Amino acid sequence: MQCSVRDEVYRPSVRNAARSLQSLLSQIIIAFLLLSCTADACTVLEFTGEGFSPNLMWLLHAYPLYGAMNGTFYVDSKLWPHRCTETGGGWGDFFSDADVVDWSADKERAAGKVCLRQGSRQVDELLHKLGTGTEELDGMAVNRLWRFKPAVQKVVNATLRELKGLNNPTVAFHIRGGDLSADLQQNKRKPVSPQQYVDRALEAFGKKAKGGTCVILGDDHKLMGETAKLAKARLGCAIYRRPPYYRKAGHVAAEFAKEPLGKRCAHTVQYLQDIELMTHADYFVGTFHSNLPRIVQTLRFSLLHKDKRTFADASEMKADWYEKVREYFREDAKQRKGPKAVPAAYAASMRRSMLSWVQ
Ligand SMILES: *[C@@H]1O[C@H](CO)[C@@H](O)[C@H](O)[C@H]1NC(C)=O
Ligand SMILES: *[C@@H]1O[C@H](CO)[C@@H](O)[C@H](O)[C@H]1NC(C)=O
Repeated sequence: MQCSVRDEVYRPSVRNAARSLQSLLSQIIIAFLLLSCTADACTVLEFTGEGFSPNLMWLLHAYPLYGAMNGTFYVDSKLWPHRCTETGGGWGDFFSDADVVDWSADKERAAGKVCLRQGSRQVDELLHKLGTGTEELDGMAVNRLWRFKPAVQKVVNATLRELKGLNNPTVAFHIRGGDLSADLQQNKRKPVSPQQYVDRALEAFGKKAKGGTCVILGDDHKLMGETAKLAKARLGCAIYRRPPYYRKAGHVAAEFAKEPLGKRCAHTVQYLQDIELMTHADYFVGTFHSNLPRIVQTLRFSLLHKDKRTFADASEMKADWYEKVREYFREDAKQRKGPKAVPAAYAASMRRSMLSWVQ
């Protein structure tokens, strides 16, 4: 709807009764049009030149806020390297959802409105202001947005059929090297080693995860090879791999952005196939150093309603949701052998809740 009515100058005449009635009617019509203009707002979420998953995270946070409340929801992905068309595409090259529109200046102009533009910082600020937390928002968003275009869905289906044919249980590993390892080292943090990924799978899932197929996904060829070897020996699993990432040392966003369009497009589709494997496998191990496992977690829990025990964070934070429960019972088992009756994790949580009473 055009909002040009705002520009019209209107001067009521008091002399002529008929004209004055007309003026009242026009005022009602103008008020109605202005109201519909406000209701017909629009929002543009600006993607950055960063990777696939940080931008997807912002989208999942932002969509249930702006997409539901502030009119047409556009994504401006001109800086985003993940695309199949040079201009105007981006999100819509892979996903089909009438509610998220690839932005272009022409579309905004044609709609006759100036949209609210939001970057990641503004989304973070709004989340902080609302205090909603992101888990519920992300869950709402994946239920609306996680729909591939038919051509992408077709290859995803083929991949999922392969997964179905593998021996159970399937345990997916996301082994991320490349610029993530470099980032961590720069911040004096240790990347997760192949040994730690496999230890974590055994610690979190126990023998239930043994004897099936380990699905090794990620980017760094060497780390993935080592993980496969260890996983095979310790979990007794067969190894399933996907076509290797084009760059042996792993994904580096700045390098990826320089690749030709066709390659970026194909690799993004391959990446989506990997994400679907991580989402559908019986078990998943990744690290919260990377954004992708957070998205996989949301997809597993909110879209497929998978058991929360089947997801593990292999980083030193062990920040997967179920870990507190695992720890409580591990401590208990330890204590039953030792002198003390109250498990340490439980005692600590008692202290925490008493503190909150006092405050
Ligand atoms: C909604 O979008 C309009 C632009 O269409 C903008 O002026 C307005 O501030 C936005 N509302 C909020 C609450 O962000
Ligand atoms: C993909 O698989 C689903 C369920 O198995 C099916 O409903 C859908 O039609 C398939 N889509 C394509 C594009 O093959």
